[in-house]
Amino acid sequence: MIEKRFFGNVETDKEVSLFTLKSKNGMKVEICNYGAAVVSIFVPDKNGKSENVVLGYDSAQGYEKCSSYFGAIVGRYGNRIGKGIFVLDGKNYQLDVNDGENHLHGGKFGFNKRIWDAEPIQTDTGQSLKLTLIDNNGEMGYAGTVKLDVIYTLSEENELIIDYLGETDETTILNPTHHSYFNLSGDLTKNILDHHLMLNADYITYVDKGFITTGELNKVENTPFDFRNLSRIGENINSDNQQIKYGLGYDHNWVINNWDKTIKKVGELYEPVSGRFMEIFTDQPGIQFYSGNFLNGEQIGKNGIACNYRTGLCLETQHFPDSPNKPSFPSVIINPGEQYVQKTIYKFSTK
Ligand code: BGC
Repeated sequence: MIEKRFFGNVETDKEVSLFTLKSKNGMKVEICNYGAAVVSIFVPDKNGKSENVVLGYDSAQGYEKCSSYFGAIVGRYGNRIGKGIFVLDGKNYQLDVNDGENHLHGGKFGFNKRIWDAEPIQTDTGQSLKLTLIDNNGEMGYAGTVKLDVIYTLSEENELIIDYLGETDETTILNPTHHSYFNLSGDLTKNILDHHLMLNADYITYVDKGFITTGELNKVENTPFDFRNLSRIGENINSDNQQIKYGLGYDHNWVINNWDKTIKKVGELYEPVSGRFMEIFTDQPGIQFYSGNFLNGEQIGKNGIACNYRTGLCLETQHFPDSPNKPSFPSVIINPGEQYVQKTIYKFSTK
């Protein structure tokens, strides 16, 4: 049975629910239908101690106030679009501008700020929650009405599987992603610098000082961005490197090697003290690694714990930032009659 409970009211009177998925192996995932946000992920450490490994809030109101996208599904366009401007089929679009002069994560009333329909489902794989959003024509400046289903499944293999299915009634762009801040230590007061990360990518997309991609693919070799082998995040995060300075740490898109639209392992995250290990699988061409550089303790998370600088890191599977303005990047266009699909898996274990 998938448990459902009251999680608070938003916009003064709209009720939000919290759903709890459980696996037989001792994992537990809580998800609310405000922003389709993952609120907690309980995972055993190497001694069997189960702790929550993501930043989140105690109630729906926390998510309503949040400007850091905790655990949410972000969209229509995850990541940035320069000045919020692009041309599609000869038409100029001006999206909501909510990050300096740019558009970020779907604008100020993006998918993370909506109440989604929620339907718990029991499948052979495990317990699932299907969340559905209708994003109307013109919202945040986008063309066409988009319907997006996001299905979270907690499998008996301790995987959090995220399936996305989208459609549109007009040609538009769509690039949703998931925005959990992971801290595998289970101690959310600790920063993530001692985590070890692997990303299967020979290139990243460099950014300018406004965080907009230059359009080039740049080699990670001999740079602080080389995570081709499991490496400690804190090792080079403060290097004297222009891209590190522009990103205020790590806040870049890694270009997945040999992308062919099929699902494959793209990364690993390991926290040596707890022994918790997470593998990331996706069919997306890119992954944004964001090291929580904008967290500053103003976000008061679960149990009254302040979410301090770099106490969580995001691994957002997606298309490359500013793709609508970068013709050489894989396309994010979706036409009527086509289906948008994405599958991403975060798989937990210990070692
Ligand atoms: C982006 C950061 C941004 C953050 C907002 C991340 O996905 O890469 O630049 O500040 O989201 O919480």
